[in-house]
Amino acid sequence: MVDILLGLQWGDEGKGKIVDFLAPQYDMVARFQGGPNAGHTIIVGGKKIVLHTIPSGILHPRLINLIGNGVVLDPVTFKMECERLQATGLDVHKNLYISKKAHLILPTHKVLDAASENSKGSLKIGSTLKGIGPTYMDKTGRNGLRVGDFLTSQFQDKYNQLKQKHLSLIKLYEYDFTVEEQEKQWFEAIEFMKGFQIVDGEYFINEQLAAGKKILAEGAQGSMLDIDFGTYPFVTSSNTISASACTGLGISPRQIGEIIGITKAYCTRVGSGPFPTELLEETGDTIRKEGNEFGSTTGRPRRCGWIDLVALKYAIMLNGVTQLVITKADVLNNFATISLCTSYSVDGVVSAQVPYDLTDAEVLPVYQNMNGWMSDLTNCKTKNNLPASLLEVVENISTFTDVKIKCLSTGPDREQLVIW
Ligand code: GDP
Ligand code: IMO
Ligand code: MG
Repeated sequence: MVDILLGLQWGDEGKGKIVDFLAPQYDMVARFQGGPNAGHTIIVGGKKIVLHTIPSGILHPRLINLIGNGVVLDPVTFKMECERLQATGLDVHKNLYISKKAHLILPTHKVLDAASENSKGSLKIGSTLKGIGPTYMDKTGRNGLRVGDFLTSQFQDKYNQLKQKHLSLIKLYEYDFTVEEQEKQWFEAIEFMKGFQIVDGEYFINEQLAAGKKILAEGAQGSMLDIDFGTYPFVTSSNTISASACTGLGISPRQIGEIIGITKAYCTRVGSGPFPTELLEETGDTIRKEGNEFGSTTGRPRRCGWIDLVALKYAIMLNGVTQLVITKADVLNNFATISLCTSYSVDGVVSAQVPYDLTDAEVLPVYQNMNGWMSDLTNCKTKNNLPASLLEVVENISTFTDVKIKCLSTGPDREQLVIW
């Protein structure tokens, strides 16, 4: 069976940490969408690793890791990630597989991303500028280059053709750029990639399933950034919800088992777009400081706010979440009061639903306040050791969303976790 683990907010919920923790229970971890816009942090024994393209099971040598067809892959970032992992003594060549059908991010995709954002002025998405949108546009526009293409003799021709198309598009933006140096690195990285196991991902994963292997599909971004159901147009360019695991890996919905959804005990968002519970004053700054809320991919400060149970319930519905993980509870250790948004006031009308348009409507959060726990969680290793007020907040979230809790994360390290 394939379990899916994914973020229920606007990304950065702590997916990397939880995948790494759960990985020993599986035989394979597979990424199914997104690309190097993701930054998944794993901290083991105080040492930090940030993964952008490579699945977060990679630190466990027994596991197979698969980059699925739904992923968009930048060879240069991929090479850099591999080299960093190799420097820690890991042999990534052994247990990392790449689907032939994953699409390649070209240097000019990144230029197009930047030119497009630049042209939007104050309406910019706040993209990570990793070329994600333009690459998915070429995929659906049926112009894309795929990993399997670099194994063919027409690769250079196909590259040149797509690059030419990009150059004429960039002209429309009147955007200054150079790509010569990036192209050199890109082709070097393509040669590097040839040393990996490039597979027909859909056959590969189904063979693993037929052999009884247990697979964890690792989502990137979060449900509120989903291209269909997120806060459009301030979203990413892929489907980030559980359904995407099937198309992004080539597996049937009948293979799906548990759906593990991750939420922070509060909420963050990086980039532009609506965020009903955002705290623009001191409380938001305190959360940012306590939670070290700066982007893993771009270093940008993350916008911070209270947990939004309306959006969370919506994400749980879209994904069919069966188990909930709450992370970063420790960040709220010093708050006397914890607020939870339980409904919205949309243009003056109270609603329990996420409205069609969060951008132009006036969406104000309605809060339930609960007592904070005002204590350190370092020594809380079991549920029984947790402060009563924290248990009440967690049970309240579980009751409100009607999903059972799987675990509570109390710090960034692999070991800092309380199982329910
Ligand atoms: P991802 O994109 O969902 O994998 O999340 P990121 O890695 O971008 O951001 C999560 C950040 O929170 C990382 O810096 C993690 O090391 C850190 N983190 C994860 N879980 C916890 C936790 O329970 N407490 C604290 N304080 N930090 C955590
Ligand atoms: P992980 O997997 C947080 C945001 C960007 C921007 C919008 C579109 O680490 O949770 P894009 O580069 O996709 O065109 O950007 O989506 N974004 C993320 N925010 N975590 C991520 O990934 C994100 N990936 C994209 O900040 O607002
Ligand atoms: Mg992240």
